[in-house]
Amino acid sequence: MAEPKENLLMEKIVSLCKRRGFIYQSSEIYGGINGFWDYGPLGAELKRNVKELWWHSMTRHRDDVVGLEATIIMAPQIWKASGHVDTFADLMRECPLTKKRVRADQVEAQSGIAYQFSGAKDGRIVNELFNRLMAEDDQNPVKLVVGEVLARVNDREQALTTAAALLEGNKDSTGRPWAQEVLKQLAAMPRSQESFSFLLLPGKPPESARNAAREFYAQAGIPEPILLGEDAEIIENSSDFHPESHVRLSASRPFNLMFKSHAGPIESEENVVYLRPETAQAIFAQFKNVLETSRQKVPFGIAQVGKAFRNEVTPRNFTFRSREFEQMELEYFIKPDEAIAAIFGGVTTVPESGHPGVPRPDWGWQAWHQYWVEERVAFYEGIGLARDTLGFHIQTPAELAHYARACTDILFKFPFSKPDGQGHVAGDELEGIAARSDFDLSQHARCSGKPMGVFDDELRTAWGQLPKEKQDDLWRRYYENRKKYLTTTGVADEAATSQATADANGLAKGQYIPHVIEPSAGVDRLMLALIASAYSETTSTDEKGKSDTRVVLKFHPRVAPIKVGVFPLLKNKPELVTKAQTVRDLLRSWMNVYYDEAGSIGKRYARQDEAGTPFCVTIDFDTLGEKPELLDTVTLRHRDDGRQERLAIGELLEWLRSKLR
Ligand code: GAP
Repeated sequence: MAEPKENLLMEKIVSLCKRRGFIYQSSEIYGGINGFWDYGPLGAELKRNVKELWWHSMTRHRDDVVGLEATIIMAPQIWKASGHVDTFADLMRECPLTKKRVRADQVEAQSGIAYQFSGAKDGRIVNELFNRLMAEDDQNPVKLVVGEVLARVNDREQALTTAAALLEGNKDSTGRPWAQEVLKQLAAMPRSQESFSFLLLPGKPPESARNAAREFYAQAGIPEPILLGEDAEIIENSSDFHPESHVRLSASRPFNLMFKSHAGPIESEENVVYLRPETAQAIFAQFKNVLETSRQKVPFGIAQVGKAFRNEVTPRNFTFRSREFEQMELEYFIKPDEAIAAIFGGVTTVPESGHPGVPRPDWGWQAWHQYWVEERVAFYEGIGLARDTLGFHIQTPAELAHYARACTDILFKFPFSKPDGQGHVAGDELEGIAARSDFDLSQHARCSGKPMGVFDDELRTAWGQLPKEKQDDLWRRYYENRKKYLTTTGVADEAATSQATADANGLAKGQYIPHVIEPSAGVDRLMLALIASAYSETTSTDEKGKSDTRVVLKFHPRVAPIKVGVFPLLKNKPELVTKAQTVRDLLRSWMNVYYDEAGSIGKRYARQDEAGTPFCVTIDFDTLGEKPELLDTVTLRHRDDGRQERLAIGELLEWLRSKLR
């Protein structure tokens, strides 16, 4: 089996996705729109499978997680409380000529000669004044003076300025009105003192730098720019120039990634709303409602799947970084470690690698975090992403948000993933699993004024039985954590002390704000990972030496968009067609079936191989009883190795369903 090279592989994947109807560019007939993608017939099925598998494993297969389906647009105060309004930003830089923006940390280094201009002035007025004067009689005294000055300074603007200054003071008033008019017009001449810099790549003519500068100053309101203060300097490996326009970029500034709109007919500040940049916040905002209506008790989780929107500065790598995408997020609420220690006498921690097993009531945040990392890896393995295609990034203290205790990113080795200095490819983020402390619920409690705490009778009882020393220790630890949260979010010291004291007193009475572990995955990234992982090519050579390369998408049956292809051997044999359609209808209620009677069997197999269909069944004459022992059997073909076997129709459905569980 040939393994295509990385970038070539990405090109092949993009082309296959279009050709087979997995992914199309959004609005393609109008030239597309950057960062937006549509899923075609196979893509839509794959997406549905991915989301349903996640939903099943996260909610229906568990007793401790329930679902939520919230709106995309929510009260803007939610995004203020969550910190998105103030801090959800990428640093970006702008090309002053094309206005294209790039992320400050993603500008590739370039070398060349930087042409710098200190400004420009408008040549139009000078030319008009000059041409008007040249049309005068040769004996015109003003024309004679200007001609004389020009012979010395060889600059039209300077000649006009000097001549006007001379003539303005003329005793006999010859040329004085002309001089006053010229000085007035020259004083009003548009000028720019904004500097402009262009990186001339090796082999390019300097005139291209000047043309870019003229275009820039023309945009700045100087219709016929005369460039000023030209200078040139050799530049090596600089990330200061736009990769396409080669113009020096603006200083970096934060660019909020939320899409803004207005709710209602009036486009005013009070009506500003945001398209949600993550699904998580709705879960926090509805925490109390879910708790009260679902009969869940901490620890428990709330799961949500849905669209999220981020105005990414540079969408890239196909669907990997899009502006509209879907997330699958779980917020798993747990007791704070101080509550666990009070109830169980201590907090059980688990090894930092491997699955820690069935959850225990005395787990603290560390064990729950490790549990969810391993649960999520098991999910990925269960849908066909081998462990060696995954990687991990454990965020360093410097990378962690101030409130987070830990965050582990699960990575996938995409074809575009880059090797590090040692040539090791770790991969790019599929999902992040963060231990977010009680930050989110605390923020919403503070900003909405609505309590987000829970009452835990077990804690209250246990607390009463603790020795004083232990009570004091846990009280102090809880107090310090709460105070740290309050002061880092801007609460003044005195108020923070009083609130943290009240919170710690609350703990002693069985009250606390739950902490949260958040596994947050992207649907689109996972789909891309599944397609990249499934992609393979097989090359066969016929007896004449002609070779043929075929694409096979080796999806796990659980995610495959089509589970089985059903073919009558020949389409002009009604008895075969009828039986094939009966088989199709038998399977259809249980799985996605593709019925195909067009073309040779080989072509039909090839079509299903490219679609990633794991099994095909063919109805041939044997099944009609030509060989009595084969009556009511089908030929079942396995995509992965091309193996074929006979299976009784009566067993087919159960056999296929067993592969999808
Ligand atoms: N609530 C936490 C949160 O949203 P995140 O790391 O920003 O965390 C979670 O996003 C996941 O959402 C990522 O791991 C990724 O799979 C997906 N995601 C984020 N931005 C994306 C984008 N621009 N395009 C596609 N997927 C994206």
